[in-house]
Amino acid sequence: MNSHPLGQFPSYRPRRLRQSPVLRRMVSETQLSVTQLVLPLFVRAGRKLRHPISAMPGVFQLSPDELVREATLAYELGVPAVLLFGIPETKDVRASGAYAANGIVQQAVRRLKKELPQLLVITDVCLCEYMAHGHCGIVQQDRHHTRILNDPSLKLLARAAASHAEAGADIVAPSDMMDGRVRAIREQLDKQGFADTPIMSYAAKFSSAFYGPFREAAESAPQFGDRRSYQMDPANANEALREVALDIQEGADIVMVKPALAYLDILHRVKTEFGYPTAAYAVSAEYSMVKAAAANGWIDERAVTLESLLAMRRAGADIIITYAAMDAARWLKEK
Ligand code: PBG
Repeated sequence: MNSHPLGQFPSYRPRRLRQSPVLRRMVSETQLSVTQLVLPLFVRAGRKLRHPISAMPGVFQLSPDELVREATLAYELGVPAVLLFGIPETKDVRASGAYAANGIVQQAVRRLKKELPQLLVITDVCLCEYMAHGHCGIVQQDRHHTRILNDPSLKLLARAAASHAEAGADIVAPSDMMDGRVRAIREQLDKQGFADTPIMSYAAKFSSAFYGPFREAAESAPQFGDRRSYQMDPANANEALREVALDIQEGADIVMVKPALAYLDILHRVKTEFGYPTAAYAVSAEYSMVKAAAANGWIDERAVTLESLLAMRRAGADIIITYAAMDAARWLKEK
């Protein structure tokens, strides 16, 4: 906007363009479409398993057969992509399950790509679900100190990402927040012949209480300490731009801001500053809070969900990862 219009047009009456639905639609600045949504899914070993997550009504840990069913429903509703998280049968301090050729995510990716080749399969690349201690990197403990080692963790992350690509993942999405992991993953992918596999990096990922319910879903709560030495301080916005700049330099194709609703200022600045394909992750507690209030009859779930997703779009999100993707897909169809 170059000049303020009100000085020049004293007769401006904003309500003129709000008189009818067709007019309102015509001047609407932001559109929300199912083509932008990504549904996170949790997979674990077993058959016919749909284990509910108590704090996330409608979300389940699924065995691979049930995962295919759920993904098929999503795909039929028009949801173009899923984001996979794995719950391994055993955990250790090397996160072996994260990069095992026949790990749970690797198996699930192969099944999904075989049965639903058109569905975009994105894999979360992290170590926390596979580590006995639940941290996103290798832990070094001595009597006084617990440290999450950065560079040694990069090798494991790069192996995990490459094993996902090998299984057929369309996009890999590192969420660990170790420094330099995008470069390490890019190099490993290129070396193994996956130069065309995009990286969606959790670039500005904050150390957030809004991840609470997820840790039940992914069984990935840290057994000691917290994630504040690697995830970002919620107070910091300028630092978020540096994190994003770094990931872009290292080769990220899509950058993500997480959580979404409480961080729309960050989302807006990231989109404005870099103009990169930008994703927002509406995280577990964002979903749980809406479900809880709706279950009490306190809010209109559909209206609140669609308004929140629209707000993320308005702030700059091209892609929205949300547990409500299937609900939203249904509601957008009815509209
Ligand atoms: C793993 C990971 C987390 C989430 C996505 N990937 C948890 C965490 O960092 O503790 C959170 C997602 C959500 O809350 O919905 N590193």
